[in-house]
Amino acid sequence: MSDLQHINLSWDADLAIVTVDRQEKLNALNAEVFTELAEAFDSLRYDDQIRGVIVTGAGEKAFVAGADIGELAKMDAISGVQVSRTGQGVFRTIERFPKPVLAAVGGYALGGGCELALACHMRIAAENARFGLPEVGLGIIPGYGGTVRLARLVGLGRAVELALTGDMVDAEAALAMGLVTAVVPRAELMDRSKELLKKVTRNGPLAIRMVLESIYRGMDLPLQEGTAVESSLFGLLASTEDVKEGMTAFLEKRKPDFKGR
Ligand code: COA
Repeated sequence: MSDLQHINLSWDADLAIVTVDRQEKLNALNAEVFTELAEAFDSLRYDDQIRGVIVTGAGEKAFVAGADIGELAKMDAISGVQVSRTGQGVFRTIERFPKPVLAAVGGYALGGGCELALACHMRIAAENARFGLPEVGLGIIPGYGGTVRLARLVGLGRAVELALTGDMVDAEAALAMGLVTAVVPRAELMDRSKELLKKVTRNGPLAIRMVLESIYRGMDLPLQEGTAVESSLFGLLASTEDVKEGMTAFLEKRKPDFKGR
C-alpha cells in the first residue's frame, strides 16, 4: 500500500479505524481520498488480524462534508459519469466488505459523506452529527448511491423529501428515521462505536460474513431467491469448524473460541 495522505489507518486490537483526514476541507472526498479509501479497504480485506472496521472523519466538525466541490466544478458529461462510477465502486466495496463496517459520524455527513455512511453496515451518530443530501442546491444529484440507499434505509417518503429539499437533519431526527441506530455524546463516539463493533466481532467471523452476504444479496433479490441464497449460506456454514465449536461450546456451557474456519 502506498503512503496514505488523506486517510489515517489505526488499530485497536482486532478492529481497524479508517479516518478520512482532510480537515481543512471538512474531510471532503476528492479523487485521492477515493483512491486511498479503496487501498485501505483492500489492505484490510485479507488481514486475518482484522475482524471489523470503523470509518470516521478527523476533527470535531465533520465526518465528511461531501464530495470535493472544487473538483466537481471541473467535470463535464463524460468525466461526471466517471466521477459517479468511481465513488459508487468504492462505496460498493465497503457495502460488500466481508467484515462488519461501522460509520462513527460526528459533525457534518453531507452529500458524499452521507452516502459513505449509508454504504457502511451500521451507523452511530454523535450529538453534533448533521446529515443531508444538499446536492440539488448545487444543481446536481447524489451520485454515489445515495438516492438508492437512503430510500431503502429510511423509506421512500423521507428519502425523497431529504433529497429534494437538501435539508440537513440532526442526530435525533436521523435516529427517529432509522438512519442511525444510536446517538451518543461526541466524546464517547469512538468508545461506543468500538463497543458495538466488538460485540459483533465476538461472534463467529464466518457467520458474520454470511449474514452480511445474505442480507445485502437479499436486498437485490425477490424474496424467493433471497431466501434460497440464505439456505445455501446456511448449509455452507454447517460444514465449518466454527459451527461445531459454537454448538459444542453452548452444550459445554463455555464461551466459543471461533477460528474463522
Ligand atoms: N467540497 C470542498 N470544500 C469544502 C466542502 C466540500 N464539499 N465542504 C466544506 N469545504 C471547505 C470550505 O470551502 C472551506 O474551505 P476554505 O477555508 O478554503 O474556504 C472549509 O471546507 C471550511 O468550510 P466552511 O464552509 O468555511 O465551514 P462552515 O462551518 O461555514 O460550513 C458546511 C460548513 C458543511 C455547512 C459548508 O462547508 C458546506 O455547505 N459545505 C458543502 C456541503 C455540500 O454541499 N456537500 C455536498 C457536495 S456534493
